[in-house]
Amino acid sequence: MGLKDLTLGFIGGGQMAEALIRGLLKSQSTAPERIIVSEPFEPRQKYLTREFPGLKAIFDNCGLVRESDFIVLAVKPQIMKEVLSEISLAVDPTRHLVVSIAAGIPLAFLERFLPEKTRVVRVMPNTAALVLASISAFTGGRYTTAEDLALVEEFLKAFGECLLLPEVYFDAVTGLSGSGPAFVAAFLEALIDGGVKVGLPRPVAEKLALVTLSGTAKLFQETGKNPYEIKSMVTSPGGTTICGLKALAERGFSGSLMAAVEAATERSAELTEKVLKEVSK
Ligand SMILES: NC(=O)c1ccc[n+]([C@@H]2O[C@H](COP(=O)([O-])OP(=O)(O)OC[C@H]3O[C@@H](n4cnc5c(N)ncnc54)[C@H](OP(=O)(O)O)[C@@H]3O)[C@@H](O)[C@H]2O)c1
Repeated sequence: MGLKDLTLGFIGGGQMAEALIRGLLKSQSTAPERIIVSEPFEPRQKYLTREFPGLKAIFDNCGLVRESDFIVLAVKPQIMKEVLSEISLAVDPTRHLVVSIAAGIPLAFLERFLPEKTRVVRVMPNTAALVLASISAFTGGRYTTAEDLALVEEFLKAFGECLLLPEVYFDAVTGLSGSGPAFVAAFLEALIDGGVKVGLPRPVAEKLALVTLSGTAKLFQETGKNPYEIKSMVTSPGGTTICGLKALAERGFSGSLMAAVEAATERSAELTEKVLKEVSK
């Protein structure tokens, strides 16, 4: 059985849900008639049904569960407990697969507030899902089967790439690829400012910096060379690049970036800890 055979229900019709639906339809992984969204804000419902003709948008989360097989929890982490408690009566562990994309909500939390033996999968996508270029980590709960994980993999590939990882890595994944787009954006902004500082008009600096960033990522992906080899390709003895690299080293560039990933990971662990305390209450 593939995704096409299932009815997909999204609880929460926000930014992420929209990105995922766009990916699913663009990749023809399913048809709009196979998608239901429950969303409390009526103008948002209207927007989604206009944007994706054939999709059904409703108010009732339990109604959505009853009509769906594959349920995607796409609400903010703060209201997850409320939503899980609400849908719990409608979830049938023999029928439903429940996938959460909420940051920092562990499998134990999902399983705690859903009926015994519910098959749950935790996913950590990133903002690039909006342009179908996400890297998502996913991990299955106590009752998840290999078939469930294969379905989730099919789902995730509709809006980017994915990796099946143990849950212990999820704080680190949040620190690297979850927060990563912000770190890369900060790098890009600094590169642009550097160009402006040496006299380039801002639009020119933006174009040069952006294509340099995406081109280098492509070079890395397509040649299979490691970052050190790519760096060596541009760095001639006594040349311009080595002077720039020395300036970066003197100002602790690598250490700063590593510390950013570490700080984001630690914060994610702190938040996860707080959520887990809820489970033990
Ligand atoms: N955005 C990202 O880059 C990103 C990356 C990784 C993971 N995530 C996760 O994805 C999830 C969704 O994020 P988002 O950026 O899409 O947030 P969002 O745009 O705020 O979407 C959440 C949606 O859920 C709706 N909602 C609120 N209460 C509800 C309820 N009781 N039942 C059903 N729907 C309800 C909200 O409606 P109202 O607006 O009317 O309240 C809103 O449309 C979050 O848990 C986040 O951690 C996001």
